[in-house]
Amino acid sequence: MALLVSSWSNGVKSVPKDYVMPPERRAGDFVTVCKEIPVIDLQNDRSEIVQKILKACQEFGLFQVINHGVSDKMMENMMALYDEFFNLSVEDKLGVYSEKPCKGCTLYTSGLEYAKEDVHYWKDTLKHPCHPIDKHSPSWPEKPARYKEEVGRYVVEVRKMGFKILDLIAEGLGLNEGYFNGVSQEHTMAINRYPPCPDPSLAMGIAGHNDPNLITFLQQDRYGLQVHKDGKWMGVEPIPNAFVVNLGYQIHAITNGKLKVVEHRGLLNSTTSRTSIVTFFGPNPELPTVVEPAKELVTPSNPQMFKAYQYNEFIANYLALAYNCRPGSLNGSALDPYRL
Ligand code: OGA
Ligand code: NI
Repeated sequence: MALLVSSWSNGVKSVPKDYVMPPERRAGDFVTVCKEIPVIDLQNDRSEIVQKILKACQEFGLFQVINHGVSDKMMENMMALYDEFFNLSVEDKLGVYSEKPCKGCTLYTSGLEYAKEDVHYWKDTLKHPCHPIDKHSPSWPEKPARYKEEVGRYVVEVRKMGFKILDLIAEGLGLNEGYFNGVSQEHTMAINRYPPCPDPSLAMGIAGHNDPNLITFLQQDRYGLQVHKDGKWMGVEPIPNAFVVNLGYQIHAITNGKLKVVEHRGLLNSTTSRTSIVTFFGPNPELPTVVEPAKELVTPSNPQMFKAYQYNEFIANYLALAYNCRPGSLNGSALDPYRL
């Protein structure tokens, strides 16, 4: 528990040795915020939105949405809630703490498994399943006292937005409404907290990775998120109360490579904590789910790229790669065993 960065880092003057990344795993040169990443207003004309989202998914594998239906007030309340949560005393956080991420609700630190890492990440994460709310909310934190009520409301709203965006994507691809519902049974949240770091050039928040799931919706309060495109890292502009939508491995496979899975990472700063509230939709790894390219998207000119596979098998493979590779290099190889 003493390991949580949010519990020990306040006021530290230098980066402890076991948080100093070797040079090749550091953020490197300063990069600018990319103004070309599409920002899509979900209140615009539907056919225009559909085209814009499709283009963004093909070019970037990422876009931002505004006027998405989740209210500003709710988003601000969530940030305030998590500020309070991460500032709780060690004793109060103990109830949900665990040494590594596991099933159910867990508060853990750094990357995949602290004890197995040579160098640690400057990050704490609270992660829990969300849907169905009644089933999972008993495992959510007891403090702050309003946690379950507020997060329960957020889950409902983000869910509506998420399925709406999936339908817009399906429409752009010529797939039926609800096409992605069967591979979105799992709705999980991870709240990442990156406390201020005395020297952000030496440490790292979250290493470059592709998300293993279908699609991810990220709410952030300040700069730190970067995406990899055309061999370069680019900054994602923090737009107040927007969601960053990024595509995971599963949507890449299901669309037969038509939509891009995007590698991304999280940087630190020296003055303020950064918080990201991340919602993941994807297949439930506890249910047998077969993932395969949509028949509609396999054509003579775009032959099938991946064979059908079990999602839980993919996840096991993804995790093995994450443990065995140099962290930061989990950037495209997890689907290789299924490539045709
Ligand atoms: C993640 C992630 C980025 C961030 O949790 O998968 O990519 O900005 N987070 O916290
Ligand atoms: Ni991610």
